[in-house]
Amino acid sequence: MEGFDAYAGAVSHDEFFKTLAEKSDGGKLRGDYSCADAQYVVQQDMSLYTPEQQALWRRLYERQARLLQGRACDLFIESLAALDASSEIPNFDKTSDALEKATGWRLVAVPGLVPDQTFFEHLASRRFPVTVWLREPHEFDYIVEPDVFHDFFGHVPLLFNPIVADYLQQYGQGGLKALKLGGLKNLARLYWYTIEFGLVESPQGLRVYGAGILSSGGEIEYCLSSKSPRRIGFSTERVMRTLYKIDSYQESYFVIRDFQQLFDETAPDFTPVYERLSKLEDYPANTLLPGEVDLAANLGSN
Ligand code: PHE
Ligand code: CO
Repeated sequence: MEGFDAYAGAVSHDEFFKTLAEKSDGGKLRGDYSCADAQYVVQQDMSLYTPEQQALWRRLYERQARLLQGRACDLFIESLAALDASSEIPNFDKTSDALEKATGWRLVAVPGLVPDQTFFEHLASRRFPVTVWLREPHEFDYIVEPDVFHDFFGHVPLLFNPIVADYLQQYGQGGLKALKLGGLKNLARLYWYTIEFGLVESPQGLRVYGAGILSSGGEIEYCLSSKSPRRIGFSTERVMRTLYKIDSYQESYFVIRDFQQLFDETAPDFTPVYERLSKLEDYPANTLLPGEVDLAANLGSN
């Protein structure tokens, strides 16, 4: 555990585990943190994945890949195909070599969730933390903590896009700043409603780019064609004021025109934004403000 001492003062290790224990049921942590270094990085030992786990990966991949056409954005579908990850749990080092050539990012293996500061430091250095372990068969449809399927399948393809790659690095830098300014909860909502649950316009209609949706068997259809949630045009401060659901499908999704819009609108200094938002009330997750419309309101009868 010696590596963790490097974090004394910055992130309290005990505090981190306490928060995590509260988040996961029974206070048990899924990952093995005993071999993690000061940045919570571990080795990905390919030989530890069992044939059963490899088969589960293939089943997860197949089910999800079948749902992408007409729902995921083209960039995601193209990059995922190039990753060639359908037949086994991918080797992060191999993927990193390709990714580094494309956008200068690398993947690092982690035991599971990491402290906010550590997460931001990785992103700011163009390193994306990917959980090493795979869910159990009974979690095929739903898992509470992110596993390797969510992290890899959902997040890695878009890291090949230069604008998303830059956005995420800026987000990491912004996160370190937000920790000092007390803006964490507002900034976290931005990640949630973009990187995890974002929708994007396309000439053919709305498409998904958020990893939380792309790795979900049910929400990928729900977010586009259910009448129940709202799909609202993206605006930075609107998103930063909006609460989100962690244990059900989202009640609101935010739609960007393209990744350049996302990058440009989040580029300004958030210092005055945090200041302003600290005096305003949060919006419930199902808010529709005056003037806002559901961008999928012309849906059929489902
Ligand atoms: N512009 C933000 C800030 O000043 C940083 C940021 C960039 C946040 C991109 C999110 C996404 O804090
Ligand atoms: Co995620």
